Amino acid sequence: MNIVRRRGWEVTDRRVTPEHIALNRRALIGGAAALSILPALAARADIPVNPAFTPGRAVTGEKDATTYNNYYEFSESKNLWRDAQVLKQRPWTIELGGMVKQPRTIGIDDLLKQVSLEERIYRHRCVEAWAMTVPWTGFPLSQLLKIAEPLGSAKFVVFETTQDKVMPGLSAPFYPWPYVEGVTIEEAANDLAFISTGMYGKPLPPQNGGPLRLTLPWKYGFKSAKAIVKITFADKRPATFWEAIGPSEYGFWANVNPAVPHPRWSQATERLLGSNERVPTQIFNGYADQVAALYSNQKNEKLFM
Ligand code: MTE
Repeated sequence: MNIVRRRGWEVTDRRVTPEHIALNRRALIGGAAALSILPALAARADIPVNPAFTPGRAVTGEKDATTYNNYYEFSESKNLWRDAQVLKQRPWTIELGGMVKQPRTIGIDDLLKQVSLEERIYRHRCVEAWAMTVPWTGFPLSQLLKIAEPLGSAKFVVFETTQDKVMPGLSAPFYPWPYVEGVTIEEAANDLAFISTGMYGKPLPPQNGGPLRLTLPWKYGFKSAKAIVKITFADKRPATFWEAIGPSEYGFWANVNPAVPHPRWSQATERLLGSNERVPTQIFNGYADQVAALYSNQKNEKLFM
């Protein structure tokens, strides 16, 4: 990944914003409900903010979060948001396959009718050491597990993302397309694991992974695959996109840990999008209470890279 290394990063105590300010900003409207092309969901204007997920930080400005992106299918530059607008968001289908009771393909709007949408404000920490705090609309990944009905022998959930002819980055020969990511079934069932379909009370814009992306706030951002078209259940750990490119830098687990530096830079602090303030990074990105137990039995694994 392209990294901008800055000197003189500052750590200050001004990072904490009172929770009510962040929460009161959020209207009780979800992304899907704001989508006029989704009549079935238009009545669901009461998508609630889940108060269990408090970020302890100011919400990042919408413009900052939607105009500074990583999306290598479009570009290696962060300034790709205009180019990404050409990615059509409908029709959109998701293939559910591999070790499931019955493989099938589901249309996104059919899927959205079967889940309970909510809004969660989550931190996002990129492996490149920038961070943002975003109100996502979506549903817990555990709800999708119920719909997909994996077999008891399945151990991993594998996410594959779209390869569309409008994406110029796909012709770069160096990259092992498609973008693939994966988690264990236990990680997928954890309450924090989320599928986002909106942000800032609006449909998820293409540059942020619309129409649906993974959101795993305790892991480095590259695990949060955008524009998912295929979800497969497997008993073997998948070869993931960034691990295939640089196994010594971007591992399968990628849990955030300030004490484990990336081979080429420190992970001790992060730069907040918008203010550029430098703040300390927390283990599991501040979500240790919810997820640390997932890893208590993992021996000889590089959990934090
Ligand atoms: N998903 C796809 N399909 N392609 C990508 O290049 N980049 C990842 C992740 N998901 C990426 C992706 C990385 S490195 C990060 S940090 C986040 O998306 C960035 O999400 P954002 O642009 O919404 O901030």
